[in-house]
Amino acid sequence: MKRMLTGLQPSGKLTIANYIGGIKPMILNQGKYDSFLFIPDLHTITVPQDATILKHNIKNAIAIYLACGIDPQKNTIYLQSDNLYHANLSWILECNTSMGQLSRMTQYKDKIQRGKPAVCGLFTYPVLMAADILLYSADIVPTGADQKQHLELARDLAINFNNKYGKTFVIPEPYIPEIGAKIMDLQNPEIKMSKSAENPKGVIYLTDDEQTVLKKIKSAVTDSEAVVKYDVENKPGISNLITIYSCLSGLSVKDIEQKFGNENYGVFKTEVAKLISQTLTPIQQKYEIYKNDENMIKDILQKGLDVTNNIAKEKYNEVKQKVGLGLHFD
Ligand code: TRP
Repeated sequence: MKRMLTGLQPSGKLTIANYIGGIKPMILNQGKYDSFLFIPDLHTITVPQDATILKHNIKNAIAIYLACGIDPQKNTIYLQSDNLYHANLSWILECNTSMGQLSRMTQYKDKIQRGKPAVCGLFTYPVLMAADILLYSADIVPTGADQKQHLELARDLAINFNNKYGKTFVIPEPYIPEIGAKIMDLQNPEIKMSKSAENPKGVIYLTDDEQTVLKKIKSAVTDSEAVVKYDVENKPGISNLITIYSCLSGLSVKDIEQKFGNENYGVFKTEVAKLISQTLTPIQQKYEIYKNDENMIKDILQKGLDVTNNIAKEKYNEVKQKVGLGLHFD
């Protein structure tokens, strides 16, 4: 069975775009892959965090993924900082990464431009990400489009290492769900829906209640044509609502155009809001239960650590030996 691996940041507020593009593909693939899902909390501290809030966010992140339907029986769920081999392998990879390679990373440049402190960890972030992937010989790595460049670096580092020291790492394949990358802001359908958006009116959070969802969808920017038709260029707002409806219902764009083609936007928007709330309400109910079950969360993470520690140790020791570290006589 091929191994699929991804890291989901413990952000305080996930959006419907994170659900459609990140979490749902993992759920649809459960059982089809040997699936590894972890919280990259070491990556999270590359930008300043409040320790109390971070701790809270990590726990809540596990609870929300479980509430969305990530099955702990079918996924190995773990916390990056629990497993010491990630940072260790990252160090060895850093010693095989050039400043030039990292200087080209656009996410680093963007974050600095947006005022994040230029700490070394933020600069070497992509190398730690490569370690996350290469330690477990992951075949497929689903992520958002913004991580594509980091995945390419992980592939380059693996290829270079294999060339220098002999076959050690599996070269991972990126998997970027097309649809998820395309959920747009409701108020400005030219930009991606983002949890850090300036205007929360354009963003549906997984914790939004029915009334809030209805209000946000009703005030979503559309056009004056009043025809429910998919046309990203001329009707980006309506196309975005069609995409959301399609992802949540499983209906094709054509089916949706047929179903709502003659309705006015008000009717269509009400149906989109209804479907979103039907999706979110059971997630919110489960989340309220799971987030208070600390023992269950701890058990899941312990089990994940036990599984991943063994795999990571073996790969790390192989790497260590190849580069000539330590004195192992076995
Ligand atoms: N950097 C990724 C993000 O912000 C999270 C991440 C860390 C990750 N390590 C990973 C994703 C390894 C995939 C594989 O989305």
